[in-house]
Amino acid sequence: HKGEYRHFMLKEIFEQPEVIATALEGRLSEEGVLVESFGPEAQALFARARQVHIIACGTSYHAGLVARYWLERYAGVPVQVEVASEYRYRHPVVLDDTLFVTLSQSGETADTLAALRFAKTLGYIGSLAICNVPGSSLVRESDLTLMTRAGPEIGVASTKAFTTQLVALMLLTLAMGKAQGLDDAQRAEQAEIVAALKTLPRVCQKALALDGAIEALSQAFAEKHHALFLGRGAHYPIALEGALKLKEISYIHAEAYPAGELKHGPLALVDSEMPVISVAPNDDLLEKLKSNLQEVRARGGQLFVFAEESIGIRDQQDVRVLGVPVIHESLTPLLYTLPLQLLSYHVAVLKGTDVDQPRNLAKSVTVE
Ligand code: F6R
Repeated sequence: HKGEYRHFMLKEIFEQPEVIATALEGRLSEEGVLVESFGPEAQALFARARQVHIIACGTSYHAGLVARYWLERYAGVPVQVEVASEYRYRHPVVLDDTLFVTLSQSGETADTLAALRFAKTLGYIGSLAICNVPGSSLVRESDLTLMTRAGPEIGVASTKAFTTQLVALMLLTLAMGKAQGLDDAQRAEQAEIVAALKTLPRVCQKALALDGAIEALSQAFAEKHHALFLGRGAHYPIALEGALKLKEISYIHAEAYPAGELKHGPLALVDSEMPVISVAPNDDLLEKLKSNLQEVRARGGQLFVFAEESIGIRDQQDVRVLGVPVIHESLTPLLYTLPLQLLSYHVAVLKGTDVDQPRNLAKSVTVE
């Protein structure tokens, strides 16, 4: 039921603080994650794993791309991420002690399921499914499972399913790090992330207050045919996800680039007809990103920057800055997703497309 909301997508966007809290429930102790949340065999498998392969499609694939940055940075585990429809037709070389992970909202995506079945022939130490539907094929056929607990998602464009996947993947990151053994500095870092996770529902609620400001600027996109999304590091996949959402429900052609790639081609596309959306969290890469944004401005591009107010990118004629609340830097990819969801939603509403049921798409892709 949509209740007070005009579309399921908007309802599901606004449910995120609540479902993120649900996804965390009972899975954290004071200082760390409860590894047994992933099942009784998780401790042994996570301790043994030397690398991780993550396979998924679409938005779930973008969650996997974020997890690569997290697992490498916070757990020291090398990660490969690939779309299922490519993976299943390759001849993957699987090193000893590799864990196979699938991500799926539905648990019935044909290519992801086929990839899991194929992986079982390749000598992995085991499989983990991160999924939203209990009892789905993917859950039944995997050794370990972690449910994302987003509740039913009706809008075809995935929103709360994605952010709860990110919560699950941060829990995986913490669990893998813990199982592999932590030094004092890493233990302190985990404690910080756990504390930040506990504040996440509240901070997400604050980010959703951007709704009115985003609705107001959606006008700037309604007549446009293209848009460019930029991010760096773990926010590059968030740019990819922002572009996918915009394409999917507003039918505006959008592309995402890691901002450092601009000069290698896409800068040629930038003129006053090309809105450029950038996620600019306050991290090590911010200064580099700012200089990339200067390159865009110099070409007459219209910039929309999502950033903390304190970082000093000023609102001016060709730069609109939308202030995002502050959170521990490990969790900014999740937080910055929310305003991009709202942006695609409001642009689609303005264009009058069928937001919950975009043309040519199905919620669950059970055929190849
Ligand atoms: C986009 C979207 C799709 C799905 C993809 C995988 O908004 O929803 O890209 O993410 O079809 O579906 P699941 O996660 O069910 O395997």
